[in-house]
Amino acid sequence: MDTATVKRFLDGMKYEAERTAPPDGFPRLPDIPAGRYVDPAFLALEREFLWRRSWLYACHIDELPEPGSFLLWRKSGAPIVIVRGKDDVVRAFYNTCQHRGAPLVKGEKGCVPGFVCGYHGWTYALDGSLINLRDKRDFVGLDPCTRGLKAVRCERFYNWIFINEDANAEPLERHFAPFVEYFQQFQPLEWRLVSQQSFDVKCNVKVLLDAFLEVYHLKSIHQNTVDRFLDHRGTSIALYRRGHSLMVTPNRRPDWVDPGTRGMRRIETATVISTNNNPSFNFYPNLVVPVDPTGCPLLLFWPTSDTTMRIECHWFAPDWGDGPPPELWSVRIANFDRILDEDLQFAAAIQESVMSPGFRGIPLNYQERRIYHWHAELDRRIGTERVPEALRVPPLLDPLFEN
Ligand code: FES
Ligand SMILES: [Fe+2]
Repeated sequence: MDTATVKRFLDGMKYEAERTAPPDGFPRLPDIPAGRYVDPAFLALEREFLWRRSWLYACHIDELPEPGSFLLWRKSGAPIVIVRGKDDVVRAFYNTCQHRGAPLVKGEKGCVPGFVCGYHGWTYALDGSLINLRDKRDFVGLDPCTRGLKAVRCERFYNWIFINEDANAEPLERHFAPFVEYFQQFQPLEWRLVSQQSFDVKCNVKVLLDAFLEVYHLKSIHQNTVDRFLDHRGTSIALYRRGHSLMVTPNRRPDWVDPGTRGMRRIETATVISTNNNPSFNFYPNLVVPVDPTGCPLLLFWPTSDTTMRIECHWFAPDWGDGPPPELWSVRIANFDRILDEDLQFAAAIQESVMSPGFRGIPLNYQERRIYHWHAELDRRIGTERVPEALRVPPLLDPLFEN
């Protein structure tokens, strides 16, 4: 993060703490229509144009430790196998044999020298090429060179691997600019996987995701935790093209250090934005990263049906040396889980509400504008003309920074 950007956020937090109203020209936002959380036709559009066509987090390179290591991944819909090749390149393919569609791998993860289909024995190399087919003499005019596995876009943000089922998607590095540059300060190639957890929640995925895009709720549901050390009234927000956003919330006291991070290895090149404040990134659509120089979770929000979702916490930290992660981590993660419980407490009841006649739509305030930005981007991706008029969210907020 360059010094001009650091200064922009520091000035931004000062401005936010002192202002008495939203800035001049901030528009009156129309309510987010209730139907966007419950209407089956709208949720079908969301599946088709968002979840099947976005850059979505899949795994970290630590989960593919050697050539042949694979994971089976189904988050965007179709079963996809992600595999590390003999050349150490990570690739992704539909888990679909090109003969009659049997799966290439059956387990959720493992290590293989290549893929041998269990149905009739077609064999593929780790790079997806078809290298052996039984009784080739009986296939008339079949060219094995054209029968390799169907690839899925698979690219890296440092050592974090993302998948996109849209073959025409723009390159990941372009898509997540300028976060690529912002993250350099954390030396992310040094980071390793600490642990993973997931929690099933009975609400539409957006009900919970919304809560992680604002700090307006700190004073109520985090009264005895986060609110004691973060000042939500000083939060500075940047909205970026493609729906991404970043909020930076100041500590109540500039010298405050999270006791849970004491004794942990700290990346020294991190800027004051993360050492004395709390940045939280939204990599559109469903990755939230409250980054810290001692490590942090990658929070993933996945729909599991129209009315249920799963939140995953993938914890990462700067390389701690040999052996398992230091014991301090279990305490820190347990503390985080308590905060997460606070966030989850209303989710199922809100879902009941959004399905009831009592829910008329969401009037968002200036502090909550990342939620508006998120929804406006969803319409852009679906294509405004496809969204029923009554459910549209017009693009009224200009991204502040180009990317
Ligand atoms: S379906 Fe795979 S070899 Fe026949
Ligand atoms: Fe929260």
